[in-house]
Amino acid sequence: MSMPQAKIATLLGEGKKELASIKDASTLLTWETKYLGRKSELNEILKGLKDLSPEEKRLVGPVAQHARETLTTLHQEAAKRIEREGVDWDKEWIDVTAPGERIPAGHLHPITLLENEIADIFASLGFGVWDGPELEMEQNNFDSLNFPKDHPARDMQDTFWVKQDKHWKHTYLPRTHTSTVQVRYMQEHKPPIRIIVPGRIFRNEATDASHEHTFHQFECLMVDEPGKVTVATFKYIAETFFSRFFGKKIDIRLRPSYFPFTEPSFEFDISCVLCERKGCSVCQQTGWLEIGGAGMVNQKVFESVGYKRGAYQGFAWGFGLTRLAMMKYKITDIRLFMSGDLRFLKQF
Ligand code: PHE
Repeated sequence: MSMPQAKIATLLGEGKKELASIKDASTLLTWETKYLGRKSELNEILKGLKDLSPEEKRLVGPVAQHARETLTTLHQEAAKRIEREGVDWDKEWIDVTAPGERIPAGHLHPITLLENEIADIFASLGFGVWDGPELEMEQNNFDSLNFPKDHPARDMQDTFWVKQDKHWKHTYLPRTHTSTVQVRYMQEHKPPIRIIVPGRIFRNEATDASHEHTFHQFECLMVDEPGKVTVATFKYIAETFFSRFFGKKIDIRLRPSYFPFTEPSFEFDISCVLCERKGCSVCQQTGWLEIGGAGMVNQKVFESVGYKRGAYQGFAWGFGLTRLAMMKYKITDIRLFMSGDLRFLKQF
């Protein structure tokens, strides 16, 4: 037997023996450096192979390779063994009869829950749900809704303006109301129309407990041939909806108002859900709660979406879904909804 082979056999034998008595990871590391490391004797032999004669190389090469593979396998097994032995089984036993850990599940946001509830009520009245983009063309947010350029009515809604990209064909803005979807829907559909549009909107407002720059509204649009959808229809739908929503009889009150896209326009109030018009702090002793805007769709809006003037008649309303949520759940700070505060959200 030539020298390298004898050496290899010795290394293999000693390596195995030493390994069997190792009980901890740091000694194992020392062993690994000694037998498999870059400067180990075995590695030196492998590196030296290239200097041997072809004859010797043929004899020594496979033996050295085999020794390295054997020691590598043994090392892996020892590592597993040491890991296993390192566990204190008296402490680490598993009680397979113990009840499982409950994995926390997420749930819908209170606003989404309300949107779903509202959609259900309206579905029973024959209304579908429609949607539109939050970043909207100025055209759909203002022009098509009969807001003339530079008209003060544009100031009724404090608008956030976004930096425009020179490649955009239109001016875009975060929509200030869900009325944008009236335009979008009517451009693509002919009456009869019965839709609601829940959605997120944006206003450039200073925030406090009752003002938020980002909140939810919901639009309602009902259009048909002249005479079929009147102010009385609106009152009926509104009363039915609110009574079902709050689970008690709710009265509606209309007050004259102005919106460019409705004519006539109203603000509408509902009878106070807390005091039933006796007067309380929530309704500031008036017995009524302001809910939102409404009116008969302005014929100019119909024209802007391509309908013939006078061909149709209908009503639209829009109001703060977030405010409704505050009334329903008696929440006193509007900012909680967008706060992402789990202590708040987990209560729903
Ligand atoms: N879009 C109006 C607003 O946000 C509300 C409104 C909707 C009024 C539809 C009339 C008809 O203030």
